[in-house]
Amino acid sequence: MVDPAAPASAQSVATLSSPDGSIRVHLDLDDRGVPAYQVTADGEAVVDRSRLGVVLGDGDTLGVGMEVVETQTSEHDETWTQPWGQQATVRDHHRELRVRLRSASPPEREMILVFRAFNDGVGFRYEWPEQPELDRFRIMDERTEFRLADDPTTWWIRAYEHNRYEYIYNETKLSEAGYALHTPLTMAFPGEGPFVALHEANLTDYAAMSLRRTGPTRFQADLAPWSNGVRVYGEAPFRSPWRTILIGDEPGDLVTNMIALNLNEPNQIEDTSWIEPGKYVGIWWAMHLGMWTWGSGPNHGATTEHAKDYIDFAAEHGFDGVLVEGWNRGWDGNWVGEGADFSFTEPYPDFDLEEVAAYAREKGTRLIGHHETSGHVPNYEAQMEEAYDLLERLDVNALKTGYVDHGMDFPRETGGDSLAREWNYGQYMVRHYRRSIELAAEHGIMLDIHEPVKGTGLRRTYPNLMTQEGARGQEFNAPWGGGNGPDHIPTLVFTRLLAGPMDFTPGIFNLDAEGEEANSVPTTLAGQLALYVVLFSPLHMAADLPKNYEAHPDAFQFIKDVPTSWAETTVIDAAIGDHVTIARKDRTSDDWYLGAKTDGSARTVRVALDFLADDTSYTAEIYRDGAEAGWTSNPMDYEVETQSVEANDTLQLRLAPGGGAAVRFRQ
Ligand code: NOJ
Ligand code: CA
Repeated sequence: MVDPAAPASAQSVATLSSPDGSIRVHLDLDDRGVPAYQVTADGEAVVDRSRLGVVLGDGDTLGVGMEVVETQTSEHDETWTQPWGQQATVRDHHRELRVRLRSASPPEREMILVFRAFNDGVGFRYEWPEQPELDRFRIMDERTEFRLADDPTTWWIRAYEHNRYEYIYNETKLSEAGYALHTPLTMAFPGEGPFVALHEANLTDYAAMSLRRTGPTRFQADLAPWSNGVRVYGEAPFRSPWRTILIGDEPGDLVTNMIALNLNEPNQIEDTSWIEPGKYVGIWWAMHLGMWTWGSGPNHGATTEHAKDYIDFAAEHGFDGVLVEGWNRGWDGNWVGEGADFSFTEPYPDFDLEEVAAYAREKGTRLIGHHETSGHVPNYEAQMEEAYDLLERLDVNALKTGYVDHGMDFPRETGGDSLAREWNYGQYMVRHYRRSIELAAEHGIMLDIHEPVKGTGLRRTYPNLMTQEGARGQEFNAPWGGGNGPDHIPTLVFTRLLAGPMDFTPGIFNLDAEGEEANSVPTTLAGQLALYVVLFSPLHMAADLPKNYEAHPDAFQFIKDVPTSWAETTVIDAAIGDHVTIARKDRTSDDWYLGAKTDGSARTVRVALDFLADDTSYTAEIYRDGAEAGWTSNPMDYEVETQSVEANDTLQLRLAPGGGAAVRFRQ
C-alpha cells in the first residue's frame, strides 16, 4: 500500500488484512520514530495516515522516538453465544497484529500496539506491559488521530456539554461539525459509501474518549480529564480501551456489527439463569407529566396503593416488573445535581417497601428498584452495599439507577473538607459505574443505568448490565422536555444504539392528550409500537399510564407479545435520520417481528419477507397507521389487521408522517 501522505522516510512496519482481505490496516514509523496507521476498505482510503501515542505525566511521549522490537500476527475464529442480545450467536473472526515498540533513548519504555482487522472494521488499543521504567503513571493526553479520508456526512452531538449525552443529533459534513464530539460518531462517505462509525470498546479503568477537532476532517482522541487535569491514572501492566472503526456498505451493517462485543472479555457471570430480559411498567410517566411527584406530599406517586394498582395491571397483562420511582427519602427539595440527602434503604412513610415487594412476588411479577443518585457518588457508595443487600433480600432482581448531575459536577471526596467535581465520563465515574455493575452481579441484580457513561460492549462480560439511557429518551417528550422531533428515532438507531441497548421507554398511547396529560411525543401510535423492535433493549418499558393501554387493548396486544431478546436481527431498509425498518426473530419461538419507523415524511416501505422460513405460512398481525394518521394532525389513528403471508411475499406498509408500523409474524 503506497501512502502519498506518509513522510518519504517512513518505514513500513506491517500490513494487516481482515480475513476476507477487504479491510487493510497499514502501520509505519517515520524518521522521528512516530508510529502511524491507516485504514482502507475495498482499496479505498477510510482513515489516512494518523499518528499514535500517549503523553505521560513526566513529559515523556510514548509515540515519538520509538523503534520496533518485534511484530506478531495471528488469526482467530470463534463463535460464542450471548445469554440475550440482538442475535444468539456471534462470530469473532479477525486477524491480529501486535507491534512491540520501545523508546530509542532513556527512559527506555515499551508500549505494544494491538490491531485487529475484522471483515467489517478495525479495533486497536495500547498496552503497557510490566517493565522497570514504568510503574504507576499518568496519561496527560492520547495522541491517537483519526484523519478521515473524505468529508463524510456526519451525525454528531457535542462532548463536554452540560447535559451529558442528552442532545438532538446534528447532521452536517464532518468539516462543519463541532469542535468536540461524542462517539459513536457515525459517518456516510460520499457516493457509494462506506458507512463508518468511530467508537470504543471495553472502557475499563480509563477515561471515555471523545474526539477533538484538529483539522477540517481530522480529529484526535480526547480523554475526559480528572478535575486536576490528569486524563488517566495507570499502573503497568495496563491497557487502553479499544478504539473502533466500524465499516459497512449499508447503514444497517453498523447496527449488526459485533466488533464491540468481540473486543470485550467473555462473560464472567457463571450462572446467568437469573438474568431475564423482559418488559416492565411503572410509576414514572405520571411524574414526567406533572400529575404525580417524586417527592412527598398530596400527589406523591410512589404510594403503596398506586404501586399495588400497577402490580395488578402488570400481573394481568404479563409484565415482568414494576418500576417505582420516588419511593425513597431524599426527593424533597432540590434533588437535581445535589443528591446528598438520598437514602437508598428508607422508604417514604406512605410506601411500604416490604409489602409492595411481597405483593409483586405473590402476583407473579416483581418490584424493580430505583436509585436516583443525582451523581452524588460519595453518598451512594456509602450505602450501596446495604442497598443492594436489601434488594436481594426482597427478591428484587432489577434496578434502575440514575445520575442526574451535569457537566463536570459529579462530586468526589478528596479527603479534605471540600468535594472535587468530575465529568461522568472520566476515569472516576467509569470506575464507579463498574463497581455498581460488579456489586449488582454479586447480588443477582440486573441494571438499567440512566445518565450512564456510554456503552462500550461491557454487557458481554457482565450480562447483568442490561440496558442504559445515555441519549434523549422519551422523557424529553414530556411537557418539560421540549420534544425530540420526528428525525430522532431513525437517527438514534445508527448513532447512540451502536453503543448498546437503550432504555428509551417507548409506548406512549395518549398522543393527542390535553390538560395534565399533554405531551409532545412526535410519533403516531403505530410509530410508538415500532420502537419495541427498532430500538434494541433487553428491558423495555411500557411507559404510558395503564388507563391509556386499557383504552386500546388491540394495539396494546403488540406490546404484550413483543419479546426483548432475539435470535437474529436484520436491517431491511434504512436511511440514517429518515427511516428504518428492522426484522428480528424471537429467541424462544419461530416468530418474527418487524418495526418500521419514519421521520416527519410519509413513505411506503416494501418489505420482502424472505427472512421468513421457506414453505411456511405465517399470520402477519399488522399494526399500522390509519389513513388519516400523522404525528401533528391525527397521531392516534391506527389499524390492526391480519394477513396470511409466506417468505416469497412482499408486504407494503404505508407510514404516516412521524408514523410507523409493527408486525408480528406468527407461525
Ligand atoms: C432521569 C431519568 O432518565 C428518568 O427516567 C428518571 O425518571 C429521572 N431521572 C428521575 O430519576
Ligand atoms: Ca435522562
